[in-house]
Amino acid sequence: LPASGAVYYLFGATGDLAKRKLFPALFSLYKEGKLAEDFAVVGLARRSRTDEQFQAEVYESINEFCRYKADDAELWNRFAQHFVYMSLDINDVEGFRELTRLSEKLDERFDIPGNRLFYLALAPELFGPVSFNLRDGGLLESKGWHRVVIEKPFGYDLPSAQKLNDQINQVFKEEEIFRIDHYLGKEMVQNIEVIRFANAFFEPLWNNKHIANVQITLSETVGVEDRGGYYDKSGALRDMGQNHMLQMLTMIAMEPPSRLHGEDIRDEKVKVLRSLRQYETFEDVRKNVVRGQYSEGVHKGKPLPGYRQEESVAGDSVTETYFAAKVAVDNFRWAGVPFYIRTGKRLPVKTTEVVIEFQNMPNNVLFASRHNLAPNLLVIRVNPMEGIYIKINAKQPGSDTQIQPVAMEFCQSCQVGINTPEAYERLIYDAARGDSTYFTRWDEVSHAWAFVDKIAAAWHDDTSDIRPYPAGSWGPTEASDLLKQDGFRWWPVN
Ligand code: BG6
Repeated sequence: LPASGAVYYLFGATGDLAKRKLFPALFSLYKEGKLAEDFAVVGLARRSRTDEQFQAEVYESINEFCRYKADDAELWNRFAQHFVYMSLDINDVEGFRELTRLSEKLDERFDIPGNRLFYLALAPELFGPVSFNLRDGGLLESKGWHRVVIEKPFGYDLPSAQKLNDQINQVFKEEEIFRIDHYLGKEMVQNIEVIRFANAFFEPLWNNKHIANVQITLSETVGVEDRGGYYDKSGALRDMGQNHMLQMLTMIAMEPPSRLHGEDIRDEKVKVLRSLRQYETFEDVRKNVVRGQYSEGVHKGKPLPGYRQEESVAGDSVTETYFAAKVAVDNFRWAGVPFYIRTGKRLPVKTTEVVIEFQNMPNNVLFASRHNLAPNLLVIRVNPMEGIYIKINAKQPGSDTQIQPVAMEFCQSCQVGINTPEAYERLIYDAARGDSTYFTRWDEVSHAWAFVDKIAAAWHDDTSDIRPYPAGSWGPTEASDLLKQDGFRWWPVN
């Protein structure tokens, strides 16, 4: 079903996110009939552009980044005429009044019933001022619905996130606020619920009686690229930990919701976040969290600079580009099961994987005395490969005694003709339909910050534990010790 007609306001329309993700997502939705003809997109940024120049930029972005090409001229022309551009100083309410007048014209031209979706791809300190000016400039007075989509980072810590939220709340109600965590838009992250709750194989075993540990890896090969200015103040814990990693952890750990409705699912996720054991002391943090920073190294024969040599990064920076943590979910289901999470820049491969390691078979006379049985694994591959596989033990053909682990695999991304929607397509479509299931609610955000802030505070006081690791390697060796002391190891990613 197409989303109901609306004007989409892209704040930050000349930025990287619009180019790489938002324009392509809108085009894919249009091509698949999920946007009918009753919509308009207003590009907003300070720079001046004509509508034609803006449309030309959208065209380039689609041909470079979209999973569909704009090669059908008729379709492209129809799509492009929905795009207009307005140069806007976001501190000047007069500009917003002009935007209101423009919106009324667009409503009429495209037969839109006054619905307005504001997409803020802006620095967080602008969320408040823009919200106020939307209100004061008359944009919220139209007849239809009003929704605001907010990009990460949602604050820097709990107090700053709280302040942002208070500002936005003066203008929008919680159900009108759609906080993006693009990992929640990924097919395989959404698939976690189905794998868990639609399979008799898994749900009965999904607890501390059968699962030995859970491992979540988000590794990237890129360095900080041209985002040094932002990243050096943020670091891996805030950039990936507070949001994507904790969100994936909640999807793995949550109780079955009473229904598959947004609020029910988010209620269950919040319960997980409330069950996270907080690291209270400096020693707790030292024992359970490892951080690292990449130094010079080599990847596929190519020499790579260290983090401190990157553009806009301080020469003596102590920002972490890697962290690994042992996380405990202190509730009935998970008591005693460690969740190990790790993420880093400049690691050897780009991948996101969740590994569920099952407990070993009881030591029995049949096999265990003669063989070291490998544990069963369930591996959920989120990106760039999408799929799942399980590792089970089987007899080696031709031998009476040898047992070997074999993999049974479902590779979604290998299937011919499967062209899975990008995260942003799904999320924009959901926001336009008013479905906030895969957006983060304020209580999720605040609990996640509370957890992360404790770690950040301990790190702030003493930076002696930050470990350099060569770019292109798997991070500091201390990250392996986190598991070794519990009798486990990181399973190699594929
Ligand atoms: C973003 C982070 O949220 O996620 C980036 O700010 C990171 O630092 C990116 O590179 C990774 O996303 P994906 O979808 O490419 O895995």
